Amino acid sequence: MDYQTGFGNHFASEAVPGALPVGRNSPQKPSFGLYAEQFSTTAFTAPRDHNRRSWLYRLRPATSHAAFRPLRPVPAPLTPASPNRLRWSPLALPDAPTDWIDGLVPCAGNEGVLIHFYAATASMNRRAVQFSDGEVLIVPQQGALRIVTELGLMDVPPGHVALIPAGLRFRIELPDGTARGYVCENLAAPFRLPDLGPIGSNGLANPRDFETPVAWFEDVDGEYELVQKFDGQLWTTTLTHSPFDVVAWHGNSAPYRYDLARFNTIGSISFDHPDPSIFTVLTSPSDTPGTANCDFVIFPPRWMVAEDTFRPPWFHRNVMSEFMGLVRGVYDAKEGGGFAPGGASLHNRFNGHGPDVDSHAKATAADLKPARIEDTMAFMFESRHIIRPTAWALATPLLQDDYDDCWQGFAKAALPGAD
Ligand SMILES: [Fe+2]
Repeated sequence: MDYQTGFGNHFASEAVPGALPVGRNSPQKPSFGLYAEQFSTTAFTAPRDHNRRSWLYRLRPATSHAAFRPLRPVPAPLTPASPNRLRWSPLALPDAPTDWIDGLVPCAGNEGVLIHFYAATASMNRRAVQFSDGEVLIVPQQGALRIVTELGLMDVPPGHVALIPAGLRFRIELPDGTARGYVCENLAAPFRLPDLGPIGSNGLANPRDFETPVAWFEDVDGEYELVQKFDGQLWTTTLTHSPFDVVAWHGNSAPYRYDLARFNTIGSISFDHPDPSIFTVLTSPSDTPGTANCDFVIFPPRWMVAEDTFRPPWFHRNVMSEFMGLVRGVYDAKEGGGFAPGGASLHNRFNGHGPDVDSHAKATAADLKPARIEDTMAFMFESRHIIRPTAWALATPLLQDDYDDCWQGFAKAALPGAD
């Protein structure tokens, strides 16, 4: 599998020599009779730094298909949010063969993001999907994904993430036979790398570690289903050929994958630990500086060395709302169990959370030698908007009814002279 490296670069790739025009985007007659198509994921007039578009050269125009019709209702409208802290056990793999798009379960969301679980047991077969409402960030938890996109192929095992631009057609194959994970459908500004401020020009997710596929196509005739997520609902139509017929392309609106192990974690070497924003991989900014529509934040293996410091996440109440998941291992604020790989928790704005009783007891008694947190990967989709669970998420038996109990049993502080 070949990749081009860099974040938001203007890539150029051709699967057949001579397919990519030189010096112009839409020549009168593209090579071999290919069809030129501009694919824009920002408005034409977005500022240059944030403008994203690619030019695609394909066997047939993407316009050739019958009318879309409803596929099935999305059975999970968002409910009014409650202030309650919620936690879910992992989704079971379905018994019947279920592909990635049929295995997608909307869990929570707001005006800026929709968060889904997925559990799948079959590859998408002669079936593609495009998300027209927003780009999708896929976080595999179990089972590798091979993602076939109009712009090329990506292998995305657990520990990696993948981003598919809004509107781009893709299908997902399961080389391991089964797969489970999380999806953030980002309905607002595309994810970008966060500013680094005083950290300087290196650190966190470095641009060269983002990998974008090279051009790849298949010349396949016959019926091919195209599913579209549009205005919150699923639609379907039938093509007479594979939509993965882009022979060459150039531009900066493109899918990418990123290996979370390459994240350069930065933390305290004196005392206290910084805000979790220090672990931001990608940010979807809003119109208020520093107040994201969505931050994608990870908690990877790392050294803990801070002196005289409560090292796990502290107790906190934040204006931002937090949806957390776990790819592997144990999260250091939830050593008492219940937050399992494949599960999730939701802590909405200003509702207190932090270490459970077990984690608190362990951290306050710890001998503060340098210690390494091993074999873990928790993550967070953090949003400026309250995150509302879906009707499914409130009704499923996966919702744990005893989550509040993990914060019961803290001993009262003992003031001098008190009884
Ligand atoms: Fe939090």
